[in-house]
Amino acid sequence: MKIKNIFSKKEKNIVDFENLPQHIGIIMDGNGRWAKKRGLPRSSGHAAGAKTFERIVEDAGNIGIKIVTVYAFSTENWNRPKDEINALMALLEDYLDNGLNRLAGRDVKIHFIGDPGAFSESFQKKLMHMEKATENNSGLLLNVALNYGGRSEIIHSVKKLIGQAVEGKIKAEDITEKDIEKYLYTSGQADPDLIIRPSGEYRLSNFMLWQGAYSELWFSNCLWPDFTKNDLLQAISDYQKRNRRFGGV
Ligand code: IPE
Ligand code: IPE
Ligand code: MG
Repeated sequence: MKIKNIFSKKEKNIVDFENLPQHIGIIMDGNGRWAKKRGLPRSSGHAAGAKTFERIVEDAGNIGIKIVTVYAFSTENWNRPKDEINALMALLEDYLDNGLNRLAGRDVKIHFIGDPGAFSESFQKKLMHMEKATENNSGLLLNVALNYGGRSEIIHSVKKLIGQAVEGKIKAEDITEKDIEKYLYTSGQADPDLIIRPSGEYRLSNFMLWQGAYSELWFSNCLWPDFTKNDLLQAISDYQKRNRRFGGV
């Protein structure tokens, strides 16, 4: 593989560019605490987190990662105060209008995962427009998880399969993992090899429960807005030292 010339010698020594994870999931956590530490409103933390998101997606693409899934808003995040949700929605909408377009221009293919039904119609239109506008891009595939929950994703798949069973197209006893996988939001994609969670929390918070069955997990105390290219390289480097056994020996 040709390593891009934009990496310093030191950076090139951190990871083995021949043995990269194909798919990295990122739980972008810690925006609120980042803001609090600075005496700023939580919404400033989200704005700072959005900038980090843009940087890291670009870095991942340059490193040669094929798929990145970022957790941006969970099905449980609706439990937050209304003003924080409003600020987040405004930020997301602004990002759909401006920020994601910048990524689209860099050959990133954008795919939204989650249940869009909870968003306003104009918001949903923007999501669809963004997917359509980038569908022929051949660079990094970026899954943006919005109103996403691993459990609700599995329910979504099960409902589809029950519908087919009712129509007599499949038999319940014939259902396999492949059938469930077919109706996940990430259908057809490789499972995440590596899931990164900053902010000092050691949990998945409903992120990619099915797909993450054998993902390597990497945690760090850094808050998401402070996450750097070096942290990403370090996570990949640590991943490369793991021994993945998938239940074997
Ligand atoms: C993650 O940062 C962003 C979203 C969940 C939208 P948080 O807002 O959860 O930040 P902390 O965990 O409170 O610091
Ligand atoms: C996970 O972070 C969701 C996103 C980053 C979008 P949370 O902040 O919502 O997770 P918990 O509540 O700490 O588990
Ligand atoms: Mg959090």
